[in-house]
Amino acid sequence: MNTLSIVGLQFGDEGKGKITDSLSHQFDYVVRYQGGHNAGHTVYANGQKYVLHVLPTGIVHPHTINVLGTGMVISLDALQKELQGFNVSQLRISDRAHLLFPFHQQLDAQSEQTTTQKIGTTQKGIGPAYQTKTSRIGIRVGSLKDLSRLKLELKQLVSSLGVTFDGDAYVEQMKEFIAKIVPFITDTSYEIYQAYQQKKRILFEGAQGVMLDLDHGTYPYVTSSHPTPSSIPVDIGLPPSYIQEALGIVKAYTTRVGEGPFPTEIFGEEAEKIRKTGNEYGSTTGRPRRIGHLDAVMLQHAIRMTGVNQIAITLLDVLSMVDTIKICVAYELNGQRTQLVPSHASDVAKLKPIYETLPGWKVPIQDCKSFMELPKEAKTYLHRIQSLLGVPIRFISNGPKREQLIERTHHHD
Ligand code: GDP
Ligand code: IMO
Ligand code: MG
Repeated sequence: MNTLSIVGLQFGDEGKGKITDSLSHQFDYVVRYQGGHNAGHTVYANGQKYVLHVLPTGIVHPHTINVLGTGMVISLDALQKELQGFNVSQLRISDRAHLLFPFHQQLDAQSEQTTTQKIGTTQKGIGPAYQTKTSRIGIRVGSLKDLSRLKLELKQLVSSLGVTFDGDAYVEQMKEFIAKIVPFITDTSYEIYQAYQQKKRILFEGAQGVMLDLDHGTYPYVTSSHPTPSSIPVDIGLPPSYIQEALGIVKAYTTRVGEGPFPTEIFGEEAEKIRKTGNEYGSTTGRPRRIGHLDAVMLQHAIRMTGVNQIAITLLDVLSMVDTIKICVAYELNGQRTQLVPSHASDVAKLKPIYETLPGWKVPIQDCKSFMELPKEAKTYLHRIQSLLGVPIRFISNGPKREQLIERTHHHD
């Protein structure tokens, strides 16, 4: 199979960027299909730290072609900033992807200040840009090919939304950058279709995570796209049969940024220790991430709907400092035991986790090169996760660097 999709199975920030980077040498294409610069994917490679927001993580590998797919909302400002230092010829941008403008960002910030139900968004304008798209008044990337038409479309959009924005001045200001990217604006559905036919290897890099999915996450505390691999066929424009192998990324504990229910959340000293060791501060906004125990019930929910056939456990090294490790194996809701995630956020907030406790290993593991070398307690933890989730653990990430990745070749170990 020549395609692989990488999907976050929790609330985002599972280490998708690191895993994508570690595997990119095996792929010709790295493709983002949803979201925008709300993502923050961190990679330590070539002795450098990179944080990718709107660009696919594959951009760090000079041999890969990196695609911004149709399902994305793309900020030219973010793209311009991020592309510095990278080669634009490695990029393909869908002519059907939607543009995200500075006023979307302002609308996002305003609604966070004024609504009673604050979501804790990244304030990058993602929700308003998808609203514009689904209202059918949006402007697509292909419009960048004709600046006078673009100006006209911007005037109409600004007037429909009732915002104050000098579209002409914006286009003038972005003119040079637009000219730089126009040669790389294309029908990416066709390009990926052809690549597939030519047996090129294609990696689809998900942003966010299943619990932030617009429909299957903790609505309304979600993002405005579908981070699940099932959305790739629609978001790129491909037959569903092209998407078979899916690698689910699971942090060895749980984090969440922004508002919303978090059943296994922990506070105080224990949370602070994990936050410091794992450097759990948002890659996009710098906000401290909320910390919690691993939640196998949410993971079962995420795995059921994504059909991932392999898993990577990341940040396992961070748990080296804890005495005992808890896994949530079921919930109690109104006195009843349940294995399902309720649909209403207020019910999710009422869930009482039922935990299993395992011993910690209390030794550093960042230098381990094989599953065999891991301490016995770490192996027990991984085996327990695997049996709860029913999917083989194929990779274990034991540090932020590209090389700190253990591939399990024998599932009987
Ligand atoms: P993404 O959004 O899923 O790509 O994840 P982020 O990059 O936002 O957050 C993951 C964080 O964990 C980043 O700071 C990574 O550098 C770091 N990271 C990834 N894998 C590991 C790991 O195995 N161990 C440690 N200690 N850090 C890791
Ligand atoms: P990566 O790809 C973690 C969260 C925000 C907020 C909610 C909605 O790095 O995993 P939005 O700006 O999308 O409207 O915010 O979703 N969120 C993320 N949390 N990682 C991300 O991306 C996120 N992208 C959005 O914090 O709760
Ligand atoms: Mg992130």
